[in-house]
Amino acid sequence: MALLGLASVTTTLCQPSTKPVPVPSVPSTLNITTLTAENGFSVLECWSLVPGFTTSHQAGTSGAASIGIGELGSSTANATFSIIPARFNGGLHNAPAAQWVIFLSGLAHITLPNSTDKASIQGGKHGTILALDTSDVSNGHITDYPTDEVTTAVQIPLEDGKIPGHVKLHNGSCTPQEQNF
Ligand SMILES: *[C@@H]1O[C@H](CO)[C@@H](O)[C@H](O)[C@H]1NC(C)=O
Ligand SMILES: *[C@@H]1O[C@H](CO)[C@@H](O)[C@H](O)[C@H]1NC(C)=O
Ligand SMILES: *[C@@H]1O[C@H](CO)[C@@H](O)[C@H](O)[C@H]1NC(C)=O
Ligand SMILES: *[C@@H]1O[C@H](CO)[C@@H](O)[C@H](O)[C@H]1NC(C)=O
Repeated sequence: MALLGLASVTTTLCQPSTKPVPVPSVPSTLNITTLTAENGFSVLECWSLVPGFTTSHQAGTSGAASIGIGELGSSTANATFSIIPARFNGGLHNAPAAQWVIFLSGLAHITLPNSTDKASIQGGKHGTILALDTSDVSNGHITDYPTDEVTTAVQIPLEDGKIPGHVKLHNGSCTPQEQNF
């Protein structure tokens, strides 16, 4: 009995140092809510990037799930960091260039003039979207920021508007089940 007690105490004490380092499971693909255009109107679609994730061998992120998000060359030296006030309404507008928008905090609510599809993009790990509905192809979308929190976002134009490889999963924004990480 005493021995058992000691054994269990020892186990407990050893736990912090022997606890296995969690190995993150590598998801197959990155699914991205995309604002694109169909017959001159902005639409929301869920895209799955092709090729999918691989395991990084780069120093500093070795073992991490990583995925290329497009060629970014000298013409995209103008990436932007924005701080958008709480309860701001961006109104109807087009993507200024085909670009990644990476919401870091806050909440962006996207609606469309010619569709009932909408998207709520929470800043953070699921905050990355593609905005491709430039004025040459679309009538635009409406973005408002309905919470009391400021929204921060990084916009990264795609090199020569070159759209990353993808397959369309469905109309409308990606679901939480499709961003399972
Ligand atoms: C930023 O880069 C995009 C994409 O190359 C380009 O279309 C746009 O004109 C640039 N904007 C500025 C302000 O330089
Ligand atoms: C698209 O939306 C605009 C702005 O609300 C409206 O004027 C236009 O009639 C709509 N077109 C269609 C085909 O729904
Ligand atoms: C998806 O949206 C397009 C318009 O962008 C529409 O033509 C098509 O019928 C929709 N597909 C489905 C399966 O609802
Ligand atoms: C992306 O969607 C595909 C198809 O639904 C799914 O198999 C995959 O697990 C999703 N990826 C993530 C990271 O959730």
